[in-house]
Amino acid sequence: MNYSNNRVIELNNWAHELSAINTLHELDQYKSRVLSEIGAQMKLMRDLDAVAKKEFGAKINKQKQEIELLINNRREQILEQELLSKLSSETIDVTLSGRGNNIGSLHPITLSLERMIKIFQGIGFSVADGPEIENDYYNFKALNIPDNHPARAMQDTFYTTSMNVLRTHTSPIQIRYAEKRTPPIKVIAPGRVYRVDMDATHSPMFHQLEGLWIDEGISFAHLKGVMIHFLREFFNKSDLQVKFRASFFPFTEPSAEIDILSENGRYLEVAGCGIVHPKVLENMGIDSTKYSGFAFGIGIDRFTMLRYNINDLRLMFENDLDFLKQFQGAK
Ligand code: DAH
Repeated sequence: MNYSNNRVIELNNWAHELSAINTLHELDQYKSRVLSEIGAQMKLMRDLDAVAKKEFGAKINKQKQEIELLINNRREQILEQELLSKLSSETIDVTLSGRGNNIGSLHPITLSLERMIKIFQGIGFSVADGPEIENDYYNFKALNIPDNHPARAMQDTFYTTSMNVLRTHTSPIQIRYAEKRTPPIKVIAPGRVYRVDMDATHSPMFHQLEGLWIDEGISFAHLKGVMIHFLREFFNKSDLQVKFRASFFPFTEPSAEIDILSENGRYLEVAGCGIVHPKVLENMGIDSTKYSGFAFGIGIDRFTMLRYNINDLRLMFENDLDFLKQFQGAK
């Protein structure tokens, strides 16, 4: 019997199958199928006589080499195909318009604060900071706010413990700063403050900037000079009308509220101020017979609303991007 011719024809058929193979995985499967078939053929040679064995062996070896060459060629083709389709699917269309950069903007309150700091630094004030969780002594007692003062009532103050509060104003920084130093003391202290309050003009968290200048011979005239300078610089209006209206704060005597004349002819209250109360100076460890000083507290948010014509305080705390984007590049 002679298998050789049949089998060789079969190998030729296999060569045709190759063109239908399109992935490396299929090709590997195909290759192992072909090689194991060839291996099986070679085993059959045992039954052949010497002459037929030689002839069949030569044929099948030639076929094996040919099919291996075809497989390798197909492998190259598939790899090239894959590379081409990868290149075309990853093509970058350089004519497409870009995604654009989302440039952020400073929050209007930050813009105002930076402006305020710059103005006060320009006339020699340092900048100080203090804790937002304050104790009763610094938030109230040292500032001459007696135990029964209405500002201590639960509806105004967030208590964290019976003796600690979220500071209701930046005034405690005055005490903390001055008790560690000797005059001259000339400082501003901006920061977050908290009160139980919420409507279109009040937020439970808002921002104040405290100011304090203590030295020999500081008078109400210095206070007026500094505040008028600051207000005219801040609102960029050299003839801004400023009014000091008598008022009361436990930590200053005399005390005043400051009003500015707005565009629509109405006076708007923008700050509280006064001559530091002698008891407060003593609490700072400062000799009230030798030194005097003035203090003021301004609402940063209020100033921001006025400067940028913002009509609802809550807008500043909602993080609405359309609102915030308007301040790109603002000063
Ligand atoms: N602490 C006051 C408040 O929160 C603001 C204030 C008024 C601060 C008068 C002062 C001042 O330093 O002298 O309403």
